[in-house]
Amino acid sequence: MDSFSELLGARHARLYDSAIQDMIELVHSSGALSFTAGEPSIDLMPEQDLRKALFKAFENARELMGYYHDSSGLVELRDWIAEWTKNEGLLPRHLNWENILLTTGSQEGLSLFTEAVIDHGDVVAVENPSYPEAFLAFAKEGASIEAVPIDDEGPSTEALENLASRGHVKFFYTIPCFQNPSGSVTSLERRKEILELAKHYNFLILEDDPYRNLWFEEAPPTSYISLHENDGRVIYLGSFSKVVAPGIRCGWIAAPEWIFKTLHRLRVATTLNLPAILHLGLLEFLQSGGFTGHLEQLRKAYRARRDGLVEALHKHFNKSEFRFEIPKGGFFLWGEAPGLKDSDSFVKFAIQNEGVGVIAGKTFSPYPAKANEGAIRLSFAKVSPEEADEGCKRLKRALSKYMNLTQEGARTNE
Ligand SMILES: Cc1ncc(COP(=O)(O)O)c(C=O)c1O
Repeated sequence: MDSFSELLGARHARLYDSAIQDMIELVHSSGALSFTAGEPSIDLMPEQDLRKALFKAFENARELMGYYHDSSGLVELRDWIAEWTKNEGLLPRHLNWENILLTTGSQEGLSLFTEAVIDHGDVVAVENPSYPEAFLAFAKEGASIEAVPIDDEGPSTEALENLASRGHVKFFYTIPCFQNPSGSVTSLERRKEILELAKHYNFLILEDDPYRNLWFEEAPPTSYISLHENDGRVIYLGSFSKVVAPGIRCGWIAAPEWIFKTLHRLRVATTLNLPAILHLGLLEFLQSGGFTGHLEQLRKAYRARRDGLVEALHKHFNKSEFRFEIPKGGFFLWGEAPGLKDSDSFVKFAIQNEGVGVIAGKTFSPYPAKANEGAIRLSFAKVSPEEADEGCKRLKRALSKYMNLTQEGARTNE
């Protein structure tokens, strides 16, 4: 059987397993209390309304069970997205439904865009830390991934300029609102500076924005794509995964004309068509009048979960044991246990010994071998304040035990 594997194409050697998926699987099979998954909890999904809306779609438009005539997706949903994002000031006025390509979530958007622009060896600049499944999509096409650190205002312009001036960066991948994993928000000023750099060094910007609507104190600055300094080089990815339900697999790419047709052709080549009947159900839900209230409810619920986690961390850890920034939106809290030397082995230890799951920070680094070993990501999206208290108690015990063990080990080896 092994001789057949020789027949695999060169691409297979560039693929690897997702460390986050592996951790989620491990947490699932061990039944551990989990701070791992970056997804909404079932109780915060609009189950009743969505069920009604889907039922209505099946009743009224059975013909959508067939292939839909336009492989970019249901026109009415694309129109709704274009109008919604324009009204929110997130999409430039000159773009419309014909610039919206529905996707099976942002992940497909990442993949299609990368296929459209990357040749083997091209450089993609990414924030460090950043979303590792995006690295997978870039690696699949043979991109070389280079890191740009993040400061209080967002990605460092100095580092990005340094990189861009040394060679050709094809695109900069950014998650400007409540970034996964750091929770960081890029300031408006910084967005404009980065756009200026992109124009100067002629690279594209891939704006991945699934957490924008989940703000707790104030709405984040407007999108790169809508800035009047944008000359058509920004491609925007949106998603309903974090604000409706990831299982319906629906997101979108907002893309200018120069790239749209290529994205459309890639879609036909890879997926052929999309589930228009599901999209009609989603549209029914979005138009039913409850969506704005649903978003408000989500903000309130996730803010309470964020507060629960912050309180529990303050209760169980002092600053020298675990320090962190308080996120202002999204799903993630990014922290550091300064004494921790090997977060990869610690997170497995924590699951096996204390039944608590977190993700090692190095998972989010494009250079894991050089990453901060003490960094850890905690997702509060599915964790009630009570569970957060229990989870942090376990995490503290796990950390103390692990540190003692590794320090003992180091002493014995001396
Ligand atoms: C930054 C970011 N982009 C994209 C995705 C993919 O989301 P989906 O494909 O469900 O829209 C995620 C999911 O966690 C994410 O955090």
